[in-house]
Amino acid sequence: MTIHKAVIPAAGLGTRFLPATKSTPKEMLPVVDKPAIQYVVEEAVAAGLDDVLLITGRSKRTLADHFDAVPELEAALEAKGDTERLAKVRESTELANVHFVRQGQPRGLGHAVLQAKHHVGDEPFAVLLGDDLIDERDALLTPMLEIQERLGGSVIALLEVPAEQISSYGCAAIEPIDGTQDADTVRITGLVEKPPVDEAPSNLAIIGRYVLHPAVFEVLENTAPGRGGEIQLTDALATLMDMPAEQGGGVTGVVFRGRRYDTGDRLDYLKAVVRIAADRPDLGPDFKEWLAGYVAGAEV
Ligand code: G1P
Repeated sequence: MTIHKAVIPAAGLGTRFLPATKSTPKEMLPVVDKPAIQYVVEEAVAAGLDDVLLITGRSKRTLADHFDAVPELEAALEAKGDTERLAKVRESTELANVHFVRQGQPRGLGHAVLQAKHHVGDEPFAVLLGDDLIDERDALLTPMLEIQERLGGSVIALLEVPAEQISSYGCAAIEPIDGTQDADTVRITGLVEKPPVDEAPSNLAIIGRYVLHPAVFEVLENTAPGRGGEIQLTDALATLMDMPAEQGGGVTGVVFRGRRYDTGDRLDYLKAVVRIAADRPDLGPDFKEWLAGYVAGAEV
């Protein structure tokens, strides 16, 4: 069976970005000229996932608007013959089949994913967290989908981070998989959500890409609130890790060595904007020239 559904939790309050996120969802903050969420949906579509479910919450209406048509604007652009901008407006509408469900209460990432149960049904699916932008030139989701189809169970993305940052992430203990050529595909033997640095089993952080077996839903229903009083996806994965393969158990990790930006963090957000703008054929040449002069003149 080919995986074709993606779930994108987007119900978070975005407190790291106040006051910008007081009335605008953090997922709608522009990275150059596209809202962050569009990059994430584009990544899902590029990996062959054409059915996208956004888990939203209150005051996230603009997210739904972004993936909807805007007849007045489209008619105005059409009348002017501005086909280039018209294409940009229509791009997000035509990208995928985008569905929405609301989380209701902010009870954690695991609880958000559980809201997808009815829509997803009994098939493996991907979860993409909107704060994590993966550079489109670096493959991650596609190999994760292939690994899930080959090995079953669930697959999570891991990134080596400096030890002092591990307490901001879920952390994984790993062991090599016998007989595999690929040292970056590993068996997960332990998972802990945001451990203090001295209790972390490794410096491998879970980043926001998952391919989950549908057994996760029943596990989430029985997962007690964990860190921060929230239902943690990491805790449900720790349960899945110990379950037999016939019941959808087993968790594999894929160590990512490409470019990833945490757009929920202000400094990383700025880096994402600069790097993506610098690489854009339309803006890059002028922007880089200006930037080089700016950096040369600034006291660093
Ligand atoms: C969530 C997960 C955490 C993971 C992180 C990746 O945390 O709970 O395990 O490492 O996403 O970005 P959050 O950043 O929502 O607090």
